[in-house]
Amino acid sequence: MDIIGGCSSQLLASRIAEKIDGRLILAEFKTFPDGEQYTRLLDAVDDEVVIVQSTPTDSDFINLLQLIDACTDAKITAVIPYMGYARQDKQFKDGEAVSARAIARSLDVSRVITVNIHEDSILSYFNTRAESLDATNLLAEHLLDMDLPNPVIISPDKGAIYLARRAAAVMDADYDYLEKKRLSGDTVAITPKKLDIKGMDVILIDDMISTGGTMAEAIATFKSEASSLHAACVHPVLTENAVLRLFHAGVKDIISTDTIEKGVSKVSVASLIASAL
Ligand code: R5P
Repeated sequence: MDIIGGCSSQLLASRIAEKIDGRLILAEFKTFPDGEQYTRLLDAVDDEVVIVQSTPTDSDFINLLQLIDACTDAKITAVIPYMGYARQDKQFKDGEAVSARAIARSLDVSRVITVNIHEDSILSYFNTRAESLDATNLLAEHLLDMDLPNPVIISPDKGAIYLARRAAAVMDADYDYLEKKRLSGDTVAITPKKLDIKGMDVILIDDMISTGGTMAEAIATFKSEASSLHAACVHPVLTENAVLRLFHAGVKDIISTDTIEKGVSKVSVASLIASAL
């Protein structure tokens, strides 16, 4: 099988190719002086190809569209480990574009594979078979290997409690969740909740960390009582000063997967995607 790594997922694509013994296709990415992008495949592709490209930015999404276009004659599986715009999965106000739907409808491929998509309902927006893989076990195995003496897993909002529950099952630990209210793009309010975390190693887990506002606020809730604090997520969007924000707030480390390739991407989802392929 031919594997193409888009500009944002070159490492993950290479890891997947190795796992499935696929042929890694060389591609070229350039940016014109006016900011437009240029994408070219330097190897001919077979009848079936897998394109691996996360879309944390608009230009990553354009790159994905260009790669799909360059493979027009092939049967394409688009692996989008992190799909941007997934948080606009419905109309919250009249007149809003459902961005996740707009993205999904624009992809002319035979199959879509993503990882921990923000809401499963988005899968129905694709015109083709689409599935969301769950990387929680891989994250939890890494957290287990850290040998924390008294781990407890907490999600910073109710929407992510499923991640805390699944990770806690792997780690044989307790789990809970906090109540969050978003105040603006980068600030949230967390309702204080009485949790017995004295002396515990608190692992906060979420599907993504973007500005770090959610995690920083959650960390503040526990800082005085916890023995240690760790932030874990599937998708390390980590915009602007999010990393500084979390360490400044008191985390010992940030652990994420390589759905977005960052310095904190300690856990690879390559095996998960390879199995699905
Ligand atoms: C929201 O529903 C998500 O699950 C995350 O909690 C959120 O996107 C994190 O964003 P930020 O890091 O900007 O607070």
